Amino acid sequence: MALVILSPCIDVKDGTCTEVCPVDCIYEGERMFYIHPTECIECSLCESICPVDAIRYDDEVSPADTRFLKLNGDPFRNADGELDQPGGWSRGDTPLKDPAAIRDFPAAGKILPNASR
Ligand code: F3S
Repeated sequence: MALVILSPCIDVKDGTCTEVCPVDCIYEGERMFYIHPTECIECSLCESICPVDAIRYDDEVSPADTRFLKLNGDPFRNADGELDQPGGWSRGDTPLKDPAAIRDFPAAGKILPNASR
């Protein structure tokens, strides 16, 4: 089990969560941060401090957000699909490449062409 970051982080990237994480398992991506699924020690300090309430335990993620369970791990997967162990994030590290689903995620406030009003 681990904690996961959900869509409210996208384009916000407040970063306060990284300041309280005791194992530096929260990594910056291009549009959001990601919690490494196996480096996380489940202390939940990040969950309590995120100003946009973007962090959940993986077993508390709503059905609408279950794709974020995989998406939090995807930036760490190597060509064989296995999780790399980067060993901790530091401010100034090059942001990880976002998975396509995050790259294509609508910007906050943007209305999708097919969205009902
Ligand atoms: Fe994102 Fe919240 Fe952390 S906005 S960077 S999950 S404090």
